Amino acid sequence: MEWKHEYAIGIEEIDDQHLRLTEGISRVEQAVDQAEGWSAVHGALGRLASLAVTHFAVEESLMRIHDFPQLEDHADQHKRFYADLIALQERSLTTDLTPKRVEFLHRWWDAHFQEFDKPYALHVLKRKTLGPLQPEAPARPAGAKPAGSGHHDRR
Ligand SMILES: [Fe+2]
Ligand SMILES: [Fe+2]
Repeated sequence: MEWKHEYAIGIEEIDDQHLRLTEGISRVEQAVDQAEGWSAVHGALGRLASLAVTHFAVEESLMRIHDFPQLEDHADQHKRFYADLIALQERSLTTDLTPKRVEFLHRWWDAHFQEFDKPYALHVLKRKTLGPLQPEAPARPAGAKPAGSGHHDRR
């Protein structure tokens, strides 16, 4: 699979991880397509799994911090994919994987990106544009003294 520009969502760390994930998937496909043998395939799947586990944890905390309402469904998708990935890695120990057997990796990635990652990224970006929510520090009413003159709460 190849990285496409439309995969860039504008959150640097996430874009960087997505790029590395697409590279990880390509690496698995390459090892399978070129029949590099079980140990290369197994190793590539293991590296992909470790990239995925970190990425999913980062996305899930980002969604939690920004109160994304569909966090649970999203996290469930991550969990299922990870389980399938680990099952595939185990299978690679006993069976030569075919290109058909690994194509769900990039299909999943593309569909998950469109259906799940884009919506949460939009939500997070919108929040970032509006600024972090600070319920304890309401906006200063017009005519009030600027912060720093007189009392202001230190936290
Ligand atoms: Fe993602
Ligand atoms: Fe995701």
